[in-house]
Amino acid sequence: MIISASTDYRAAAKAKLPPFLFHYIDGGSYNEHTLKRNTEDLSDIALRQRVLKNMADLSLETELFGEKLAMPIALAPVGLTGMYARRGEVQAAKAAENKGIPFTMSTVSVCPIEEVAPAINRPMWFQLYVLKDRGFMRNVLKRAKAAGVTTLVFTVDMPVPGARYRDMRSGMSGPNAAMRRVFQSMRHPSWALDVGVLGKPHDLGNISTYRGEPTKLEDYIGWLGTNFDPSISWKDLEWIRDFWDGPMVIKGILDTEDAKDAVRFGADGIVVSNHGGRQLDGVLSTARALPDIADAVKGDLKIMVDSGIRTGLDVVRMLALGADCTLLGRSFIYALAAQGQAGVENLLDLYNKEMRVAMTLTGAKTIADLNHESLVKIG
Ligand SMILES: Cc1cc2nc3c(=O)[nH]c(=O)nc-3n(C[C@H](O)[C@H](O)[C@H](O)COP(=O)(O)O)c2cc1C
Repeated sequence: MIISASTDYRAAAKAKLPPFLFHYIDGGSYNEHTLKRNTEDLSDIALRQRVLKNMADLSLETELFGEKLAMPIALAPVGLTGMYARRGEVQAAKAAENKGIPFTMSTVSVCPIEEVAPAINRPMWFQLYVLKDRGFMRNVLKRAKAAGVTTLVFTVDMPVPGARYRDMRSGMSGPNAAMRRVFQSMRHPSWALDVGVLGKPHDLGNISTYRGEPTKLEDYIGWLGTNFDPSISWKDLEWIRDFWDGPMVIKGILDTEDAKDAVRFGADGIVVSNHGGRQLDGVLSTARALPDIADAVKGDLKIMVDSGIRTGLDVVRMLALGADCTLLGRSFIYALAAQGQAGVENLLDLYNKEMRVAMTLTGAKTIADLNHESLVKIG
């Protein structure tokens, strides 16, 4: 397949991956309304075309928590990344490093921190879930610090996992899931060899290292189900502060009042996110939620946003709506699944080009120039 646009990678990933994995990435919760609204609301936002403004020396660079970013993009934490490409977390982290942006490692990664951090020269970010096993949380924070992690991304929108009906239909879970996964893998031999055979071990590396025994993919759903903590509150975040003195970002904010609480807590940043439509179906798209949140807390902390971003134009739209930086989820995972590290690097080049065109034609020379004036109000 010839890739000429950032959005081409979804079809390429679909062709490469066994269906249970493709749909695990691609799907959302319940009837997937929020998943759909995330992309639709974003693409409905009209950019304001401006011309003849001498845009020769345009810059995409920005700074976040004392770190230089080549463009206002970071790779979002995505669980099981090492199942979509061989040792996928390492490949994605290298691509991010080469393109000058941060990689965020998920708690539930295949590769452990100790495998990814030494493979790159740029400090990575680490995402943590609140889990019942506080010993694990302490252990993983200590290891993250020892590995040179700078920024902690604390995901708070998963006190319980949202039901993903697509996973039950596709064979990720549900009846005869293990057998269906084997049959699907046999019909995708290039994935089966590259990841299924050569990409082992397939376990949750961060958790296996802590427990001292392998945690298999089959254990993944069960482990998540029993370890998520519905009793989580802001108090638990104070507990984390005792173990983490670096920048702390709260991921999963969708409401102005919660954003203000994050400021009161002393967070360094938030990620406005509905987990890519994978948690509570029916909540606002992030493109709709972001402007009010930005009005309430812009300048008090860094505002990042994800969910539905598929092109460089979407990044520009989110910045114009008030974000300081964006996170790519599925977009980079499709590229990684299709073409590994080279795919993610190419994707980031495409984003860079798309952003340059959008900024040139909206008259924004720097990231700071993008604001509501870069958009046209319709209706
Ligand atoms: C397959 C998959 C796994 C994910 N795993 C995690 C995770 O482990 N931790 C987390 O905080 N967010 C996780 N997310 C959510 C992403 O970090 C991000 O919020 C979301 O993908 C953004 O939406 P988008 O995919 O539409 O860009 C996951 C998303 C996907 C698609």
